[in-house]
Amino acid sequence: MPEPTPNRNARGLIVLAAAIAVVITLVLVTRTGTPPQEAGPAATPEPDPIAAAVADPSRPEDERARDAGRKPDRILAFYGVAPGMHIYEIAAGSGYYTRLLSHVVGPEGHIVAQNSERFWPRLKDRVEPLYAALGNVEPFIGDPADYAGEPESMDAVFVVLIWHHMHYDPDAGEVLPARTVRFLDTARRLLKPGGTLAIVEHEAADGTTRAESAGWHRAPKQMTIEDVTAHGFALVAESDALTNPDDDLRNYWREALPKRDSSQRFVLKFVKPAA
Ligand SMILES: C[S@@+](CC[C@H](N)C(=O)[O-])C[C@H]1O[C@@H](n2cnc3c(N)ncnc32)[C@H](O)[C@@H]1O
Repeated sequence: MPEPTPNRNARGLIVLAAAIAVVITLVLVTRTGTPPQEAGPAATPEPDPIAAAVADPSRPEDERARDAGRKPDRILAFYGVAPGMHIYEIAAGSGYYTRLLSHVVGPEGHIVAQNSERFWPRLKDRVEPLYAALGNVEPFIGDPADYAGEPESMDAVFVVLIWHHMHYDPDAGEVLPARTVRFLDTARRLLKPGGTLAIVEHEAADGTTRAESAGWHRAPKQMTIEDVTAHGFALVAESDALTNPDDDLRNYWREALPKRDSSQRFVLKFVKPAA
């Protein structure tokens, strides 16, 4: 018998491959009742809730204007804010983060927005209609330590640009004020195990005192870490999203820095340990 030529070999392989394809098709048709289909158009990906919240066209112009300096997309992603979360936001103020948090957590989530009695009269007209429109925001007017929510009901506690009023009290001197220790106790009680305590603050140079840094409306990062970890939290991550090497960290930013939201801020993520 003559050896088969390479051409005849190739033809044999093609015939074998065609036969295998026919068998596979028959098996699929028998199993599913329909011939295999071409893949359809890819499913539309879920929109990113943080990107959607930041892009929300109903956000006021004065808040959008601050995004370049505040980078809310990076901050919310860093803290893992997600649909369905329950968050206690202290010193919510005029609502920059309240609106974003509310949008990201969505209808299954819940925000408690704390403001002090002292500041409420000047905030009320702006934020009451906002809270009503958002639908998932509960106002709490009082001291941040006094919110009596269910224990272990919160996924996160947000403390944004208010720690400089919390780390110093002239009557207490160079120790963490008792009212802030009480707030940390409340935060620990409210948080689920593993829940996040988010602190974003105008940074003061490490080594400066409480009195000096509070005078600049700032707080030293290391002091903040020591204060918070001494009261039952663990530091788990830090973001450099809001660094500014041109800021010497020794100034009252409102007067010294030409651009709003250009102060260097530390962005610290603490958690309530699981056990
Ligand atoms: C700088 S704003 C920050 C607001 C909000 N957390 C944000 O990131 O946009 C501080 C808010 O805390 C309140 N506040 C200002 N000074 C305070 C103080 N000494 N003690 C308590 N609350 C104060 C006011 O309601 C003010 O709107």
